[in-house]
Amino acid sequence: MILTKSILSAYEKGLAAQENSYAPYSNFKVGAALKVQGSDEIFVGCNVENASYGATICAERNAIWSSVAKLGKQKLDFLIVITNTEEPSVPCALCLQVLSEFDEGDLPIYLANHEGIKYMIYLCELLPRPFTSFPKNNEVVIE
Ligand code: THU
Repeated sequence: MILTKSILSAYEKGLAAQENSYAPYSNFKVGAALKVQGSDEIFVGCNVENASYGATICAERNAIWSSVAKLGKQKLDFLIVITNTEEPSVPCALCLQVLSEFDEGDLPIYLANHEGIKYMIYLCELLPRPFTSFPKNNEVVIE
């Protein structure tokens, strides 16, 4: 896995966003850094929890909402997710579903913690069949 300067600089921005995470209920602090096509800007997000737990929003979706607010819906270049855990974590299924609406599956997702970026995995590996897709190889046959 080759990490370009652009990815490393985005990681630093995601780390700064993670510092702002508001996670008093889970203590699971998440930062996200997103690059969209057609812009050099890095959009960051952090998780923001609420006493009404269901109102909590994930770092990844906050980063996407922020990019849409600034540039409208764009294709995605890469996403970095930073967690305060020993092993980096993959995005939750809700965030994967949202990401799938902005990307055809070849989005590289970098998984990181405070030590740095450790893994890269493509969106289609984490969510091969998003909602509204059709599992064409799994058609049933009526005998
Ligand atoms: N969280 C994220 O920010 N991203 C994910 O992909 C999974 C979960 C947040 C939500 C909540 O504040 C905390 O992590 C624990 O679930």
